[in-house]
Amino acid sequence: MKLLEEKILQEGEVLGEDILKVDGFINHQIDVALMEELGRDMAEHFRGQGVTKVFTIESSGIAPALFTARELGLPLVILKKQNAKNLGTKVWQTEVVSYTKDISYQLTLAKNYISDSDHVLIVDDFLANGEAATGAVRLIRKAHATVAGLGVLIEKAFQPGRKKLESQGIHVYAQASIKGFQGGKVVF
Ligand code: G4P
Repeated sequence: MKLLEEKILQEGEVLGEDILKVDGFINHQIDVALMEELGRDMAEHFRGQGVTKVFTIESSGIAPALFTARELGLPLVILKKQNAKNLGTKVWQTEVVSYTKDISYQLTLAKNYISDSDHVLIVDDFLANGEAATGAVRLIRKAHATVAGLGVLIEKAFQPGRKKLESQGIHVYAQASIKGFQGGKVVF
């Protein structure tokens, strides 16, 4: 998507060999108008495919997922990474290891927000190694629901995320696909 690529070129910052810092419009401060446009585009891509719910993983996926869900007129469910005691014991859980952040956590979903008739669209900000998205797919399948696809704002195509998801039969849509970083500059 040209709009997102231009924003990345104008305001993104390349850190080291493989990290794109987008704190000014996605990860810390949010460009709300941009998110609304991205949500609209995401919704258009997946419209008419029988999606019943939009899922995201806290926290940076929430903004684009919210606008996507609004556009599709569907509920948004936020998968939790923190141990939320008030969720009770009726939960689906799966362990996710983040190589990027060198941490692991129990991705958690209360059982009453998914049923075996759900067809779920997962929306997130980044697709890197794809561990978080794969965890979301595991949770959805544990609940005997189906996955409509994964929509991400930014895919780092030089990392194995897309391959990992596609090998599980998941359709991946990326609004900006980064081939690599050359001399501190983003190459799409
Ligand atoms: P992983 O296997 O390395 O864990 O890859 P994954 O795709 O699951 O991404 C792990 C976390 O690192 C995600 O954030 C993802 O958004 C973030 N990330 C990966 N590459 C980049 C990058 O180049 N730039 C930025 N800004 N983030 C990146 P998270 O842990 O889900 O955190 P949150 O921001 O959503 O709270």
